[in-house]
Amino acid sequence: KQFEEQRSNDNLDGKVIASLFFEPSTRTRLSFESAIQYSGGKVIGFSDSSNSSQSKGESLEDTIKTVSCYCDGIIVRHPESGSAARAAKVSSVPVINAGDGSNEHPTQTLLDLYSIMQTQNTLEGLTIGLAGDLKYGRTVHSLIKSLLLFGANFVLIAPDELQLLQKLITLIEESDSTFESRPDFTNIKDLDILYMTRTQKERFEKDEDYERVKDSLKLELKHLEDVKDNLKILHPLPRVNELDFAIDDHKAAYYFGQVQNGLYVRQALLADLIA
Ligand code: CP
Repeated sequence: KQFEEQRSNDNLDGKVIASLFFEPSTRTRLSFESAIQYSGGKVIGFSDSSNSSQSKGESLEDTIKTVSCYCDGIIVRHPESGSAARAAKVSSVPVINAGDGSNEHPTQTLLDLYSIMQTQNTLEGLTIGLAGDLKYGRTVHSLIKSLLLFGANFVLIAPDELQLLQKLITLIEESDSTFESRPDFTNIKDLDILYMTRTQKERFEKDEDYERVKDSLKLELKHLEDVKDNLKILHPLPRVNELDFAIDDHKAAYYFGQVQNGLYVRQALLADLIA
């Protein structure tokens, strides 16, 4: 909230942060780099790893050991699950996970939580619909783990092939939270938050498997006729076909407010970790 009120500051004056994106990104990379610049720091790094020595066969570990000689913190996005933890193990400076394969996306969760708090005035006991690709959607995995701390009631809306992995179902079952599954958006009138995700094309081994499920769910205006007044629709973006553009003007649409929060939350994280 402090950064929302005043984003220009000198928290990172004299600091250099490396932004290493081995996988495409618009929001995460640019909001981190913008957060660094608004906080007075400097950025090094790459947005296309084919320009790095990875293309000559260098390991992630050697890249991280090298880059940590040149900076005060490293932001890393990588297609392999567990890559951020591997990076943290060999780095001499803090490492921030900006998304590791289909595993986790913890800084997205921080901005998701801030967006939920901003719109619901609480994180406790909310009914949260999670829709789309719950199997490969890393933002959902991190968000569930965090909301378990606040006794959420999860409504899982996904085709069978994209349902949540058993290890996360088990975590919910062992917590004070609850869950139920629904096949589509026919009944969403009890939701406080509807968290949409796209089908994660890049995680499928076979194109035909992606083609079969890619259009399983699409949220349209007709689904929002009898929703709660406080419902907000979130989406980590990018969207593909799962969220009709016509919803952008509905009062429940909050995904671009969520995008904006990425800047403030990442400024706060960098101030806490590196300043
Ligand atoms: N939300 C998110 O991670 O978006 P990008 O892939 O554009 O960074």
